[in-house]
Amino acid sequence: MDDPVLSRRSIRKYTGEPVSGEHVEHLLRAAMAAPSAGNQQPWHFVVIRERRLLEAIPDVHPYASMVPEAPLAILVCGDRRLERWPQYWAQDCAAATENLLIAAAQLGLGAVWLGVHPLEERVDGLRALLGIPRDVTPFSLVPVGWPAEQKSPSDRYDELRVHRDCW
Ligand SMILES: Cc1cc2nc3c(=O)[nH]c(=O)nc-3n(C[C@H](O)[C@H](O)[C@H](O)COP(=O)(O)O)c2cc1C
Repeated sequence: MDDPVLSRRSIRKYTGEPVSGEHVEHLLRAAMAAPSAGNQQPWHFVVIRERRLLEAIPDVHPYASMVPEAPLAILVCGDRRLERWPQYWAQDCAAATENLLIAAAQLGLGAVWLGVHPLEERVDGLRALLGIPRDVTPFSLVPVGWPAEQKSPSDRYDELRVHRDCW
């Protein structure tokens, strides 16, 4: 299956090979192409490549043990100062995160969505580690690398979850 929407899986093992700046820019371009409420685009992205920082992330996120093995991770953040349509920023950041994951799959890169917001310890830990301003909330963290594991597509289509016209 070569449809990246249907074949994307969470990849948590990476080869040591570097990921180019061009590839990262492609991922960020895909993330910023996401829909957002009123097109408010409330996001910022922190591209983390410094080894010291990647190695410190499992100290502030309990399910991020793969991050130090990745050549980089991208932190998707929401900026309250950019929000014109209240309460939609997290949905906007979720759309950006998913676009990023699909673009990574299309390039043959491996990535996984690590949840951050709304868990306060993770938000505060990443904010302190990376010097993120108070008005900006870390939303999700996506380690990215060349895959060292292969996963088959997972067909989750369930007719029982589909309601036609009325419930
Ligand atoms: C909001 C959210 C939070 C997640 N948090 C984590 C996480 O902290 N650590 C992790 O290894 N995977 C995390 N995942 C990945 C899920 O475990 C994964 O998407 C799910 O098991 C389905 O597998 P698949 O992505 O391979 O299809 C998260 C996914 C989402 C959408």
